[in-house]
Amino acid sequence: IRRIGILTSGGDAPGMNACIRSIVLTAAAHQIDVIGFSHGYNGLIEGEYRTLLPYHVQHIIHLGGTILKSARCPAMHTEQGPKAAAQTLQQLQLDALLVIGGDGSFKGALAIAQHYSGQILGLPGTIDNDVDGTDATIGYATAIDTALDAIDKIRDTADAFERIFLVELMGRHSGFIALSAGIASGAEQIICPELGRLTPDDLERVTRPIQNAQLVKGKSSYIMVVAEHCYPGGSTALAEAITKAIGIECRACVLGHIQRGGSPIGADRILATKLGAYAVEQLLKGAHLMMAGEVNHTASLYPLQASGEGKKRIDPYLLRWQQQVASD
Ligand code: F6P
Repeated sequence: IRRIGILTSGGDAPGMNACIRSIVLTAAAHQIDVIGFSHGYNGLIEGEYRTLLPYHVQHIIHLGGTILKSARCPAMHTEQGPKAAAQTLQQLQLDALLVIGGDGSFKGALAIAQHYSGQILGLPGTIDNDVDGTDATIGYATAIDTALDAIDKIRDTADAFERIFLVELMGRHSGFIALSAGIASGAEQIICPELGRLTPDDLERVTRPIQNAQLVKGKSSYIMVVAEHCYPGGSTALAEAITKAIGIECRACVLGHIQRGGSPIGADRILATKLGAYAVEQLLKGAHLMMAGEVNHTASLYPLQASGEGKKRIDPYLLRWQQQVASD
């Protein structure tokens, strides 16, 4: 292996820069050239790239976002897109491609593999943690802490006003961020897709615990962490529906993209560094169509094809405990 390409794709995640840095430094140690494509797969299709040398990745380990920029790429869902991407890789004589992203980005990588003779590896970079084959994705730990910091602040004002707050967190179709940030913030209730989506006919499921809660008996605030896409119209509509149903005013706070930004916390920098280095080493050993993940503190490979199957579950123990105490 003499030349490899890398890109970051899909929702950016804190730690992507740390991962780019690790790949570039490890590659340099093995005399491998690195080409960085900009704007995810768009850069690959349109030939937007630059050489990445160790000095380019100096002092980026602490930066959120991605120096390569990221994007979603509709062209990758066409027949032509993956072909054009593979053509760029062949023209630039790249022996391998490393894709830092989530499940959607890995599907793109698999499509490119149909037309490309080099090796392809994925690295799990998404705040959602919804990737199989790794205990945590790069960015997840930071997103939890960002959400936690916000919820702690909301708790102050909720306490002061003795209010019910709904805090909507990201996670795409999974409740990893919601459960973790909800538990860590001591949220009174957590609503996540794993508990089944809520409908307006099903409101009692969430209003009963509120009515049973200390709030009504004199506790000063009540926080519900709500994973995105759990209720039609989102948490703002849910707050209105609850207000109407129980006659106590609820406020909603949609945290949104704040969760994607910020300096990666130590755990994400370390994970990103480990997986970046491991991916380059595994390329040298011939790995192809695999994802570099970490399971039980050990870096390991997982089939790229299987990484989006949704086998990884949110912690059943904490979920059960939360439900038990929420309904008391
Ligand atoms: O996958 C990361 C993520 O932030 C999800 O949590 C969220 O559903 C989605 O991306 C938002 O995407 P966009 O930034 O394109 O609105």
